[in-house]
Amino acid sequence: MTNKSKWTFLVITTVLFSSFLFGKCDQPCEARDVGIIGRSVVCVCNATYCDTVTRDAPAQGTFVVYTSSRAGKRFEKSYGTIRLSIGAKAPVSENYDRSGKTLSELFNEASYRILSNIRHQKIEGFGGSVTDAASINWRKLSDSTQRRFINSYFGRDGIEYNLIRVPIGGADFSTHPYTYNEYPWNDKALSNYSLSNEDYFYKLPMIKQAQKTATAEIKVTASTWSPPVWMKTNEAITGFAQLKREFYQTYADYHLRFIEEYDKAEVKIWALTTTNEPINGIVPFVDFNSLGWFPTDLGIWVANNLGPTIRNSRFNDTLILAVDDQRYLIDIYLGGMARADPKSLEYIDGIAVHYYGNFIPAGILSNIQRRYPDKILLATEACEGPMPWDLMRVKIGSWERADRYTRHIIDDLNNFVVGWIDWNLCLDENGGPNWAHNYVDAPILVYGERDEFIKQPMFYAMGHFSKFIPRGSQRVEVLRTSLAHVNNVAFITPQGNIVMVLQNTNTHEVKVNIATSLLRSVEITMEPESIKTIEINNN
Ligand SMILES: *[C@@H]1O[C@H](CO)[C@@H](O)[C@H](O)[C@H]1NC(C)=O
Ligand SMILES: *[C@@H]1O[C@H](CO)[C@@H](O)[C@H](O)[C@H]1NC(C)=O
Ligand SMILES: *[C@@H]1O[C@H](CO)[C@@H](O)[C@H](O)[C@H]1NC(C)=O
Repeated sequence: MTNKSKWTFLVITTVLFSSFLFGKCDQPCEARDVGIIGRSVVCVCNATYCDTVTRDAPAQGTFVVYTSSRAGKRFEKSYGTIRLSIGAKAPVSENYDRSGKTLSELFNEASYRILSNIRHQKIEGFGGSVTDAASINWRKLSDSTQRRFINSYFGRDGIEYNLIRVPIGGADFSTHPYTYNEYPWNDKALSNYSLSNEDYFYKLPMIKQAQKTATAEIKVTASTWSPPVWMKTNEAITGFAQLKREFYQTYADYHLRFIEEYDKAEVKIWALTTTNEPINGIVPFVDFNSLGWFPTDLGIWVANNLGPTIRNSRFNDTLILAVDDQRYLIDIYLGGMARADPKSLEYIDGIAVHYYGNFIPAGILSNIQRRYPDKILLATEACEGPMPWDLMRVKIGSWERADRYTRHIIDDLNNFVVGWIDWNLCLDENGGPNWAHNYVDAPILVYGERDEFIKQPMFYAMGHFSKFIPRGSQRVEVLRTSLAHVNNVAFITPQGNIVMVLQNTNTHEVKVNIATSLLRSVEITMEPESIKTIEINNN
């Protein structure tokens, strides 16, 4: 080689190597202005293009920040070095002497100390639901667009989901109400149990693609909305109804049969919930597939039927999660179950909780955790736009919805939730299909005829957690040392890095100082209305 070509070679390899190191190979968001005042952008994906994000492992003594904002940033990366703060802001007295600070500093400079010795719950992961609606929409896309979709959610350069929830039979997000073994009636032996076309052609293929693409084991949680109507007191798919006593064991077997059928299709069920939203069959505000449980009856069924059926089966390690309803119902259900039969609580491994009662502060979850310390808390369903007063079911490009997801996920994680599963992975532009017309929003909307899907701000809100808080991460205590505050939650990852998710809901900038130990700190500036994930290698 001549000197000149050596020089060129060196430059080229350096550029290639640093673009590898610094993730310049990420594909940016193909932003679309949705044309409505007050909305943020959506990112458009098709057969040949989709935005990606890789996680850059920070080198010792450095950190990497990922930013999304109302103004349009999506996982924008920046880098920094941990500062030694010897002598800098050292004297403790100065921290408490606010007289030296201007009013603006008081409100716009937040500071925290990570107490990495105070450790809380271990994280299982994050994910979304493979409903009929989600998988039918996904199947409308061409093969290569389907792959980009799955990669966006599960891939190494996507947001690396590792949890999935799947309905056992139909839910409202189906094109029609159905169950397994609908005929013959009163068939206690479940002699005609078989999965549906939706399982074989939509849900299972989607789950399998996700499993192939995922960077960790995908743990699947399954829930029944309604059993065959012949098991129910009103013999209808919805309305006020409980399980007929003579079918208590049959309904337990119905769950075991589902685990067996999915096992044949090579999808392991990690957890079962004890029925989706059991209050809906007691107080029928909603008009879709349901089964009501009074708390005491649920205790009797779990203690005598579901618990023994699962534990005596070949699938004895399947977790059983009770309640699967709003946070304000947990106490009522667990109390009633324990009164009816204390064994029922021995059979359950945890509590599944939904999003729609979050007007009650999340502290209620910490109380539950204190009283039932050996049970995990798993968030199993969330979506925006489901309430009668939500005038818009789909609110395309809404930053507020991403903000609410972020705030509630932070609150849940700070109150002992170990994992967070979103509702439909995707829906169509109207928030369907849904046979009961209960349309809602989703992080991804699919436009089948255009072979295109769009990622809403909610998708990035989910990713700020799911991608950077790997399974096995442990939450650590964060001590606030300033008047100013931004929502936040912090973890130690299995690799020993600190990951912190922060949310600035203000319309102005906020400076954040994070002390990672007595002598080290990191300073970042949060843009107005932004979400940041920071990964710090403090070793
Ligand atoms: C896919 O999106 C890219 C980027 O927006 C665009 O250049 C390309 O034309 C699109 N392809 C199709 C088939 O629409
Ligand atoms: C078994 O179920 C199918 C529908 O899944 C139904 O067509 C058939 O009649 C049922 N068999 C009996 C014996 O009821
Ligand atoms: C669970 O079942 C397996 C066989 O599938 C058995 O080896 C194991 O001992 C069982 N565990 C419990 C706790 O019963």
